[in-house]
Amino acid sequence: MTMRITTIVNGETRQADNVWPGESLLYVLRERMGLPGSKNACEQGECGSCTVYLDGVLVCACLVAAGQAEGRDVVTVEGLASGEALHPVQECLIAAGAVQCGFCTPGLAVAAHDLLAHSPRPSDPEIREALAGNLCRCTGYEKILEAVRLAADRMAVPQ
Ligand code: FES
Ligand code: FES
Repeated sequence: MTMRITTIVNGETRQADNVWPGESLLYVLRERMGLPGSKNACEQGECGSCTVYLDGVLVCACLVAAGQAEGRDVVTVEGLASGEALHPVQECLIAAGAVQCGFCTPGLAVAAHDLLAHSPRPSDPEIREALAGNLCRCTGYEKILEAVRLAADRMAVPQ
């Protein structure tokens, strides 16, 4: 039996029809709502490339059944930007050369956004810990660390 799902996605009420009970939130976002930013790399909760906010908490969208998102608030990587303007976290991932194949980038951007919301001046160990669930096969992580440091600088409130 299929169902209709209604969620708030990036501030807009969105509906998806004919959703199967086994479908993931990731599938619904990508295939039914036209939001391909969240990536489907492992679909087993291992890589973090599908990281989104669900009611303000980071989750792997591949592990969330679509039905669990009913009536809840979802923010995807697309929701970080303001219109055409990228969020500083996104800009700094690019500026630091931390985007190579780009598959990990959307999940990293969301996880780094969450880190900086809670800890505007994170130490390197804090950054590593916060991003430990986001695997990158390309960059060796140093450029990702650099990107988060840069974003912290850019977002710092002038004293
Ligand atoms: S695709 Fe969800 S954690 Fe890898
Ligand atoms: S840039 Fe390729 S997996 Fe991270």
